[in-house]
Amino acid sequence: MDSFAGGTAVVTGAGSGIGRAIAIQCAREGMHVAVADVMASRLTALGDELKTEGVNVLARELDVSDAGAVTAFANEVLGELGVPRLLFNNAGVLQIGETWTQTAESWQKLLSINLMGVVHGLNAFVPAMLEAGEAAHIVNTGSVGSLVVAPGMAQYTASKMAVRGVTESLLYDLAAHQAPIGVSLLCPGPVLTSISDELMGVAPSDGTTPPTEHLMAGQPDFIPAEQVATQVFEGIRAGNFWIFTHPLAGYLEDAFEDIVAAKNPAYREVVFDASR
Ligand SMILES: NC(=O)c1ccc[n+]([C@@H]2O[C@H](COP(=O)([O-])OP(=O)(O)OC[C@H]3O[C@@H](n4cnc5c(N)ncnc54)[C@H](O)[C@@H]3O)[C@@H](O)[C@H]2O)c1
Repeated sequence: MDSFAGGTAVVTGAGSGIGRAIAIQCAREGMHVAVADVMASRLTALGDELKTEGVNVLARELDVSDAGAVTAFANEVLGELGVPRLLFNNAGVLQIGETWTQTAESWQKLLSINLMGVVHGLNAFVPAMLEAGEAAHIVNTGSVGSLVVAPGMAQYTASKMAVRGVTESLLYDLAAHQAPIGVSLLCPGPVLTSISDELMGVAPSDGTTPPTEHLMAGQPDFIPAEQVATQVFEGIRAGNFWIFTHPLAGYLEDAFEDIVAAKNPAYREVVFDASR
């Protein structure tokens, strides 16, 4: 899939970070863009920025954990901008804490966003995309955590491994329908965004100027969200299922070798090694 101009893109969690960068890239590609975020304050400036590219923009406050609200959003998008050519189920949150300390409510909240948000996006848009029968592509945002387990991250890891399962199933289900719809799992490594602001107690009260970029700048391995957006479009154009933002092959080789050898897991910090 090469040409996107004139098509419609849908991006959830578009108010900040990776989603924001992807939405801007979509507009630069000449796509009409529907952007959604639970923090409406983050969408105002973005909407204005997208319009400067001369494309149609639909910006809506949306909580992706609310199935009914996602369906209503999808109906609005389909009515106003048409069937999406690109669908980015991207909204996500981070939670940390030791495995046994996380309450049932906290589990439910995180999974309702990171996992069910993706499911709701698929349920709301894929039937119309299938019916249109036109070339399209779906990108679900997973994480390195879709493949790698780290301590203190049970909820996040569980959600992102589940997103990997859903996304790979989606690929096979669409293939069984011979649908011209590509699928990718975006697996970002460390990206300069505001995802950890709340946990670090630095989230701005008006939600407009996420400062994490400054906090994380200079930390090893962190890359700008704009770089991720470029990698995402390269991945879509190449028809890649796996979109890695960091070199992970060496780490995965070691990890899978251990599994194949039925070795007990021992935590190894992820090292992004471009030489392997
Ligand atoms: N930043 C990283 O290092 C990193 C690494 C791996 C994966 N990811 C994933 O990338 C995606 C984007 O995260 P980011 O780093 O850009 O973070 P971010 O916090 O900068 O952006 C996420 C956006 O999603 C929105 N959001 C949160 N809950 C929502 C909900 N219920 N409904 C709709 N919108 C909601 C937030 O308001 C925010 O604007 C997430 O799925 C995240 O898990 C990020």
